Amino acid sequence: SRLVVLVSGSGTNLQALLDNLADAEAPGAEAPPYEIVAVGADRRGIAGLERAERAGVPTFVERVQDHNTRDDWDRSLAEAVAAYEPDLVVSAGFMKIVGKHFLARFGGRFVNTHPALLPSFPGAHGVRDALAYGVKATGCTVHFVDDGVDTGPIIAQGVVEVRDADTEETLHERIKDVERRLLVDVVGRLARDGYRIEGRKVYVGE
Ligand code: GRF
Repeated sequence: SRLVVLVSGSGTNLQALLDNLADAEAPGAEAPPYEIVAVGADRRGIAGLERAERAGVPTFVERVQDHNTRDDWDRSLAEAVAAYEPDLVVSAGFMKIVGKHFLARFGGRFVNTHPALLPSFPGAHGVRDALAYGVKATGCTVHFVDDGVDTGPIIAQGVVEVRDADTEETLHERIKDVERRLLVDVVGRLARDGYRIEGRKVYVGE
């Protein structure tokens, strides 16, 4: 499967997907079920783009401020991604809400990873909100993107305990350890085994 990955920050989830491909080049390893054909971002100068460049993966940047309207940005992002003819688009810390043009093109094959157990704590501060709420367990969710914010059909989740001494940073790092493994597993299975979405349910393989 051809993958386009979208990032906005450090790109450690992207790095996990890249490392998984590098591991698959070892002698006797199973052929990787996906290739990362491009990495896109909504801003310049982020580690996520450097990670792609180091891996020799083409990159592109689509900034909202470079367009007259949000709708134009949405259309332009969809066209930039479509140019790589992806089978699957993965948002790995991409911090923008896509619009109707993007969803018209990639809805049903656009996956996001979120650092909380949806439907709890959606939005841009899921880790901070969970910590502030005082939950004893949180985690991460990989889901298909729909026209809401972190509301699409859930594919997989991982649970992470919250510790008394946790800060947003320490908790987010512990979540990301689980999240990176979950994302590599899910993307590999979607790419290798195929999937179907029925309402809010996702069936992988079969
Ligand atoms: C991830 O935890 C993702 O779920 C959240 O932002 C973080 C991105 O981390 N939206 P990275 O850029 O992949 O290191």
